[in-house]
Amino acid sequence: MIKWDDSFMIGIETIDDQHKYLFELCRKLEIFLEIPTGVYKVKDALELVCCFRTYITFHFYYEEMYFHLLDYPDLASHKLEHEEFKKHIVDVNINNFYNENYNELKTLLNLSYDLIFNHIKSKDFKLKNLVKEEN
Ligand SMILES: [Fe+2]
Repeated sequence: MIKWDDSFMIGIETIDDQHKYLFELCRKLEIFLEIPTGVYKVKDALELVCCFRTYITFHFYYEEMYFHLLDYPDLASHKLEHEEFKKHIVDVNINNFYNENYNELKTLLNLSYDLIFNHIKSKDFKLKNLVKEEN
């Protein structure tokens, strides 16, 4: 079970709040995948994919705005990881949901774990260091 803890804080309040919300979305996805399959789940699956898609786009744009403000040194590779994640969500084949196949949501969850546990702690933490230097 995914759960926020303060070791993920980077020190920019707005971005930390957005990361907390991403944890919540992942938790919703975990709960969704724990429930046995059923037709009623299609709507929930669509809603979750749309939430991820909208929120992650907003969040990545927001972070990227800070890259320019703080003269971020690792711009290209960081943006590339954002693009790859966004592409994965856009590519989810929602037609599978109607066959009660949610395998792509399992993949999305695993990619989200990677985004949270690896991307935040490596790439986003570089922002944390820049904020420290600014103060
Ligand atoms: Fe990032």
